[in-house]
Formats: sequence, structure tokens, C-alpha cells
Amino acid sequence: MPVEKIHDVIIFGTGLAGLRAAVELNIKMKGKVDIALVSKVQVMRSHSVCAEGGTGAVLREEEGDSLELHAWDTVKGSDFLADQDVVDRFVSLSPQEIRLLEHWGLPWSRREDGRIMQRPFGGHTFPRACMAADKTGFFEMQALYDQLQRYATITRYDEGFATSIIVENGKFKGLTLYDLPTGEFVLLRGKALLIATGGLGTLYGFTTYSQTVTGDGQAIAFRAGLSIEDPEFLQFHPTGLIPSGILMTEGCRGEGGYLKNNKGERFMEKYAPKMMELAPRDIVSRSEMTEILEGRGFKGPDGLDYVHLDLTHLGADRINKRLPLIREVCMKFLGLDPIKEPIPIRPVAHYSMGGVEADINGKTNAENIWAAGEVACHSLHGANRLGCNSTAECLVYGGITGGEIAKYLLKNPSIPDSPKKSFEEEERKIFDHLINKEGSENPYQIKKELRKTMDETAGVYREGNLLQKGLTRVRELKEQFKKIKIEDKSKIYNSNLINALETENLLDLAEILLMAAIERKESRGGHARTDFPKRDDDNFLKHTLVKLNNGKPEISYKPVKIIHWKPVERKY
Ligand code: FUM
Repeated sequence: MPVEKIHDVIIFGTGLAGLRAAVELNIKMKGKVDIALVSKVQVMRSHSVCAEGGTGAVLREEEGDSLELHAWDTVKGSDFLADQDVVDRFVSLSPQEIRLLEHWGLPWSRREDGRIMQRPFGGHTFPRACMAADKTGFFEMQALYDQLQRYATITRYDEGFATSIIVENGKFKGLTLYDLPTGEFVLLRGKALLIATGGLGTLYGFTTYSQTVTGDGQAIAFRAGLSIEDPEFLQFHPTGLIPSGILMTEGCRGEGGYLKNNKGERFMEKYAPKMMELAPRDIVSRSEMTEILEGRGFKGPDGLDYVHLDLTHLGADRINKRLPLIREVCMKFLGLDPIKEPIPIRPVAHYSMGGVEADINGKTNAENIWAAGEVACHSLHGANRLGCNSTAECLVYGGITGGEIAKYLLKNPSIPDSPKKSFEEEERKIFDHLINKEGSENPYQIKKELRKTMDETAGVYREGNLLQKGLTRVRELKEQFKKIKIEDKSKIYNSNLINALETENLLDLAEILLMAAIERKESRGGHARTDFPKRDDDNFLKHTLVKLNNGKPEISYKPVKIIHWKPVERKY
């Protein structure tokens, strides 16, 4: 007999977006809502706790900031691929999210006058990153988690690995879940689903992401027939610590840190003379790579050549107060004290601008499925996201989707009938076929090779032949995956099985990313093609969509919503 659990709403993913949506649902439904919170880890180990530098919001109109300025910075930063109606809504809602968190007890860093401290961030023309030292995501998660304790409406499914989203006739019917601690296979049914599972950053070897971030939500949504928008736009953050890839927050440069090459030059002067180290990430990452490729970097381990992030002039007091995590990480991981020595860094895979296609309300093209946070693409970040707009997006869209789902519930929809047959098929697929495979291929090896392939073929600079080589290799790896062997055959806490499922998810997402990158024959934001070095608005001012058609990914396009600002050259 299938184990079925029924709730009003399934929230799949428990980072900032998922928790914020759960709080909003409770507020709007006055605590009368039954929510399943599904996480492959323990809730407070969601990757959002790793967010460091800050959350973008306009709080100081009297000092010269404005919603219009935040919107313009975001649109220009996106290389004009952001939908401007979505940007307008986002910038107008993010200030209230900061105030809500303040109200819920978040210990923001403070200015002398007691107001919330905001530091400068890349591509923003005003200091807008509201900060809790350099542990902002951690404190935001704490504040939201704390709020949720007020409601007895949550059933937690921690350490539950979702294997499929069942959509029938355009409607969500169930989420299939492998419950690691018990080994049970469970069907979660509900009136509505929110996908809020975050990014896919471990697709790359050199990455800022926790190893748990494997694109599961995006991959299973894609297999369920939802569209993936703009997958080619993968952001490289300019400052990943050598050799681990750990994020050295943009807050380091917001506090005044310099980037220097092996001649001791602040090289950003050549590439972005006005904003220097605080130009948008796509530009800073390309500048670093140019310095390294032209021989002005330092030799690093395993080909990880690097440049320096120099904080030594900031002084111990500022570093200890504003960047304590950065100092601790440098000391623990490298035995290096940034008060005294520069930090070795290079561009690192950090964020996926693309994701599950969702409209301005976070609604996907299935009747009762919404998406929020990094897993979603609301067309907010276009081709390049500005720093501190991600945690802000999680909060804003967690709030929006929580509210939208509440509206949906108030119309009294019934629980869709049980997709028993699909559930049983999925259970057989995982527990009879996949786990019992006795092939010759090692899934860990396939994952390692996949990540190496992505590092080598779809990096900061891209080129058609190399992308094609990457795609061919990924398709070979997909073939190899069909012949894997899973060593552990048990059902309880089978991490070999989880690894295989994650690898399968990453393989599908790699294929989509590369296909879309090959087709976008221009350079825009985070997608820089050496064979097509210019932006081409005549042919590519449009969003990519990838959808399954007869089991194969198929590409189409949709227009960008331009309301206020037509594309112009980006100068910083
Ligand atoms: O650098 C950082 O602290 C990252 C922030 C972000 O991705 O928005």
C-alpha cells in the first residue's frame, strides 16, 4: 500500500523563499492551513544560511536613494534582459521585507544613528545591502524559523529526497519522496505546490555552493513538463577562495577591498574606471579572467590561477566588525589572516539566473504550482543578477507566492485525486530498477567528470566549439549513467542512491544549459561568447525557454518586457 500524506500545501525547499512563504501563508490564512515543509537536509542546513553580504532594498530616499534607481541598476545590471514590470514590483516590495525582518528580531548591523547599516554592493549606485555583518542569510533564516515556531500548522519532512513531481492534465497531483531515515517511499498530496529548492551550483567543480545544492527541484520540475527559462545564464562570482571556492563576500569590496594582479595593480581601473571593484559581477569576473589569461595572475593549484583580494588597508577593527566570517574562513581554511595578507581568489560558479519559468506572481504554467527563489526564473535578473538582489528576491517572492497560494486556497479547491499509478511506477523505478542496477559505471565518477566538463567548457568565457564539446561529453555521460551500479542496496539512509539521483538531475540540467548557451550566439551579461563578443539586441533580446517534447529538450523563445528603459551600452 502506498504511504500517502495529505496537506493543504506542499512547500518543497526550506531556504529563505520556502520559509518566508510558509510564514506568509500562515499570516494570510490566520494560522488555519496545513503545510508540509520538505527538505532534503535539516531545515536550518538549507544553503540560504550561507548567504553573506546583504539584502538589497531602498531604505534611504531622504539620503538620495530611490526605487527608480534600484530598478535602473537592476535592469542595467541584467544587460537589459530583465522584465521591467517584475523589477518594479521587486524593488517596491523589498523595503518592507527588511522592515518585517527587523520587526521579527533580526539583529541587523547598525549605523551610529541606530539605523540599519547598508553597505555598497556591485552595480548598485547607492549603498543598499542591508547587512548582519557577513552572516546575513544565517540571521534571516533564524528570524523566519523563529516566526514559524508560532504556528502549529507545519509538518516537517526533513531529510526527504523528492524524486518526482506528478503533474497530470496540467495540474499538480503529488510529490514523491524518499524518506531517508525510514527508507519509506511516500506520496505527498496537496492542493498546491511551491517549489523553492534553490540553485544548481554543484554542476561546477569550483563553486560557492554547499554540496547539497544539486538542482533537484529544477530537474524534476523539468521532467514533469514545466519550462526552464534562461538556463544559459550562470553567474560567476568574482571572489571564490582558492582552492575551496568558498564565497569571499562582495561585502569585502563593499567595505573598500581592492582587487590586484601580480604587478600589484588595481586592474579594475582599465575595465570599469568609475565603479572599479564594485562593477557588476559579470564585468569583474571577466576582468579577472582577462588578467589571469594574459599572465598577470598568480599560479594556483590544479590550474586555479588567481588574483588578490586585498583587505589589508581596511584595518583590524573594520574587518573584525564587518567581515568576521571572512577572517575566520581565511584563517581556518588557509592559515591566512586577511588583516595582514591579501586573499587568493578567482571567479567561481555562484548563481543561476535561469530556472523554472514563473510569472510576475510566481505562478508556473501548471494550474497549482508556484516557484520562488533561485529555482525560479521570474525574469527578474535577466542575464546577470546584481549582488544582494538574491536574498531580497527570496524574501519578496516567498511573500508573494505565500500570498498567492493563500488566495488560491480561499477559493476552496479540492485535493486532486491520488495519482496512485504514477506513484507506484516511480517507486518501482527507484526501488526496483535503479537501486538494483548492476552495471559497470560508478555514479560518483560520472558526477566528478560532469563537473570537470562544465568547468572546462562553460565558464566565464565561452566559445561555440567548446560548448559543443561540453554538450557531446554530457550526452556521453548520460549514456554512461544508464549503466551505473549502486553499491549499497539498503533502503535506510542510502547515500549512494541519493548521489545517483542527484547526478541524474545535474546531467539533465547540464544538457539544457549547454544547449541554450550554444544557441545564444551573442554576449550578454554572464554569457560571454568569444566567437560572438557583442550583444545582439536584434536577434537575442529574448528569453530562452526549454521544455521537454517527446522526451527531448526543445528550445523556444519569448519576448522581454521593456517598459521604461531601452537597451543602451553598459558602462561602469
Ligand atoms: O557576495 C555575497 O555576499 C553574495 C551575495 C549575493 O550573491 O547576492
